[in-house]
Amino acid sequence: MEKVLKWAIVGCGVISKSHGDALSVAKNAKLYAVCDIIEERAIACAKEFGAEKVYTKYEDLLADPDVDVVSICTPSGMHGEMCIQAAKAGKHILCEKPMEITKEKLDRVIEEVEKYPVKMGCVFQRRADPKFAVVKEAIDSGRFGKVILADAYLKYYRNQKYYDSGEWRATWELDGGGALMNQGVHGIDLLQWMAGEVESVFARCETQVRDIVVEDTAIASLKFKNGAIGNIEGTTSVYPAQDTRIEIHCEKGSIIVSDKGILQWAIEGSDEKAPVIEAPNFNIKADPTRLPRTSHVIPLHDMADAIIEDRDPLVTPRNARSAVDLILAIYKSSEEKREIIL
Ligand SMILES: NC(=O)c1ccc[n+]([C@@H]2O[C@H](COP(=O)([O-])OP(=O)(O)OC[C@H]3O[C@@H](n4cnc5c(N)ncnc54)[C@H](O)[C@@H]3O)[C@@H](O)[C@H]2O)c1
Repeated sequence: MEKVLKWAIVGCGVISKSHGDALSVAKNAKLYAVCDIIEERAIACAKEFGAEKVYTKYEDLLADPDVDVVSICTPSGMHGEMCIQAAKAGKHILCEKPMEITKEKLDRVIEEVEKYPVKMGCVFQRRADPKFAVVKEAIDSGRFGKVILADAYLKYYRNQKYYDSGEWRATWELDGGGALMNQGVHGIDLLQWMAGEVESVFARCETQVRDIVVEDTAIASLKFKNGAIGNIEGTTSVYPAQDTRIEIHCEKGSIIVSDKGILQWAIEGSDEKAPVIEAPNFNIKADPTRLPRTSHVIPLHDMADAIIEDRDPLVTPRNARSAVDLILAIYKSSEEKREIIL
């Protein structure tokens, strides 16, 4: 009989629902336990997704020998220690983005978790989105030639109520930053994944309108290791929120991709058209109050397969850190008003 992994979720807030949804349609994994320091949240999550066990102490969850895998869905600045504790307890790990929020904590979680015979994957679900994945494949194939200019426009809207909805939100200690570290991190991950790693950055980060200590708006001018240059514009203070938009211009052509799909795909002297993208159908009822309920299906199912097949997951800890390293360099550049080499 095929192995069915017993999954646990720690942190039963907003994003736990995407993990619960993905587990509800998994073939080789099922939700077994949930844990939250707020018992009612844990109970509600267990009820909604059918977990057998409810914990309010993470240590107790980790002591449960039946737990195979833990999804870490707690505030960002707690991820590293919780991943290390899970690895020590012999549990596989699927960690929400960002994996951690400081360089020291990123170094530590990678070094410590690698000491134990467990798999760890990180959630950057947009890498599994076919419209972004085909762009990466095309740029990597060399058909568009050398990358010369690569930009990410990450203009979103979060009102003050959002920031007031959790004490950890928009704090340096637990959120690690604002518009870039929490929301923009997905697009920054995609930009480097598609266009290459950034070598240096000049940036300006500001808090324009929200009552928060971290940035709500930022711009950064980039130099990539492959010689290209580019820009990031990130905010959570523009109304209405705009689509995530990534523009990659190369020697022989350009690709522009947004949440709506591929807006431009052109190669000089070629009639190559943008690939037709068929969105996978995971048969989960849409709920407009949430992220697309399918958002975590591919990352979570891939993690389960990675454990069973004894291979790396789609996003390993080592390649999950580059977005955070770049955001930290952006913050440093803005604070010290100088170019920062990564
Ligand atoms: N992949 C995505 O698109 C995406 C989207 C939203 C959030 N996230 C990430 O998910 C994480 C959680 O975000 P959220 O919006 O769900 O936050 P949230 O505040 O809604 O939920 C966090 C939960 O963790 C619980 N918690 C705190 N400390 C705990 C502890 N020691 N043990 C057990 N539970 C504890 C809280 O009580 C709360 O219920 C963040 O790192 C965030 O960046 C990712």
